[in-house]
Amino acid sequence: TLSLLNRAWKSGFDVLMLTTDTWQLGWRPTDINIANYTHVHAFSSDVLTFYYPGTPGNELGESDPAYMAKHHDDLAQDKGHWIDSSVWHGKPHTWEKVRWLIGEWKKISDGRPFVLKGIQSVADANRALEIGCDGIVVTNHAGRQVDGAVGSLDVLPEIAEAVGDKMTIIFDSGIRTGSDVFKAIALGAHVVMIGRLFVWGMSHEGVHGCRHVIKSLLADLDILMTVAGYRSITEDVYKNKEALRYSPSGVPPGPAEHARL
Ligand SMILES: Cc1cc2nc3c(=O)[nH]c(=O)nc-3n(C[C@H](O)[C@H](O)[C@H](O)COP(=O)(O)O)c2cc1C
Repeated sequence: TLSLLNRAWKSGFDVLMLTTDTWQLGWRPTDINIANYTHVHAFSSDVLTFYYPGTPGNELGESDPAYMAKHHDDLAQDKGHWIDSSVWHGKPHTWEKVRWLIGEWKKISDGRPFVLKGIQSVADANRALEIGCDGIVVTNHAGRQVDGAVGSLDVLPEIAEAVGDKMTIIFDSGIRTGSDVFKAIALGAHVVMIGRLFVWGMSHEGVHGCRHVIKSLLADLDILMTVAGYRSITEDVYKNKEALRYSPSGVPPGPAEHARL
């Protein structure tokens, strides 16, 4: 861990984010279908997976002297084993370990921020604040971990209410359009992140596709603000629940509700 932290710092990264929700991968039928796991791969030698040398999932550990010293024998025998035993290790992170990690990162980076990703409840948000996190990511990992997990947007308001004035609230999972960004900010997020959106752009047209998707999202948000009549995202939209009409069922009101409105 210390080797990775030092490399990240020396490479110019200045915020450390720990993902807490993925100490083991969820059941992901699509990944199984395309043989994205090491032991499935054994049956299909022409598919490049997450785990195999030179692929992005493997790169971090494979380029790390400390990891490789520890897992050299694993690597020789079974190229996927090191990642199973050290990355998807199936052992939950503890709050004590997170506290340790924050201390180490602060020493290495001279106090730069630490963010905990994977928060879905007020109790955990409070705990994250208590142990010294500078920010949290309210996310359900794009729904890729717990099947049937609560929607991140549903828990965002209560988490923002509890800790939003004391730490940075980052939101992700499901951001696709400008109005998604608007809603998250109005419900108390300071920042939103995107995952699949830029991946789609990237798979279509590499860096240009990625840039195009992000520019389109910004344009969408910019135009939405204009047509909805909001001047400033920080002054007029942030925490402005008046800007939203909430339907607890998640679907627009039907004719009967419209009549009552
Ligand atoms: C293919 C893929 C791989 C991901 N890998 C990681 C990962 O290694 N670590 C992590 O914290 N999140 C990972 N995520 C989750 C994203 O960081 C992010 O939380 C999520 O994609 C946001 O939802 P969105 O895709 O709807 O924008 C991954 C998501 C996808 C789609």
